[in-house]
Amino acid sequence: MINFSDTQFIKGAHTLQQCLPDTGREVAIAGRSNVGKSSALNVITGSKGLARTSKQPGRTQQINYFELGERQYLVDLPGYGYAKVPPKVRQHWDETLSAYFESRQSLEGLLVIIDARHPMKELDQQLIEWVADIGIPVHCLLTKADKLSKGQAASALQKTRALLALIDPEISVQPFSAVDHRGLNEAQEKIRQWLIS
Ligand code: GTP
Ligand code: MG
Repeated sequence: MINFSDTQFIKGAHTLQQCLPDTGREVAIAGRSNVGKSSALNVITGSKGLARTSKQPGRTQQINYFELGERQYLVDLPGYGYAKVPPKVRQHWDETLSAYFESRQSLEGLLVIIDARHPMKELDQQLIEWVADIGIPVHCLLTKADKLSKGQAASALQKTRALLALIDPEISVQPFSAVDHRGLNEAQEKIRQWLIS
């Protein structure tokens, strides 16, 4: 049983050594800096201030673990693609997240959060190709859909779906918004599937 509203922050890790033991089941949330990863986590768990959000890019600078049920976790990851991150910090996270994706047995799936207004930038594409190649299941949320008209949102979805199909036909995508909560049930259902089955 997963009760999203029981989610609690457990710990933040800066290094692989600080990460939780690799024994449970987890779904990680990745995406460009400032795209809305932490906001998505808060809406999915129904707890407003659970993950810290910010107008400033680069807010989440840790691997943050949130426990949903017994040894079931959501993991908020630092964002990529923010130009002002010092090169050393960027290199640290590139290496740490690479090693994480390649070695983490508990990782049942990756939610990739993509801005519906700028679908599939180079770095999104690279990340998705790479984790799909490792064999990690991917589900994409096209977020900030509230900022688009109906027609624009539909065309962003179609375009992204076509690009993803070229990478791996198993990858799924849905519209999402942390403002009007569209796509919330679908996102929760995906997480449930990954954490339970
Ligand atoms: P980093 O941790 O810095 O990588 O950022 P993040 O991806 O966690 O983004 P965060 O959730 O902090 O949100 C960044 C900004 O986007 C904030 O100002 C949010 O209020 C806004 N935002 C997030 N999701 C949505 C959405 O669905 N619609 C709209 N309109 N704004 C959103
Ligand atoms: Mg964040």
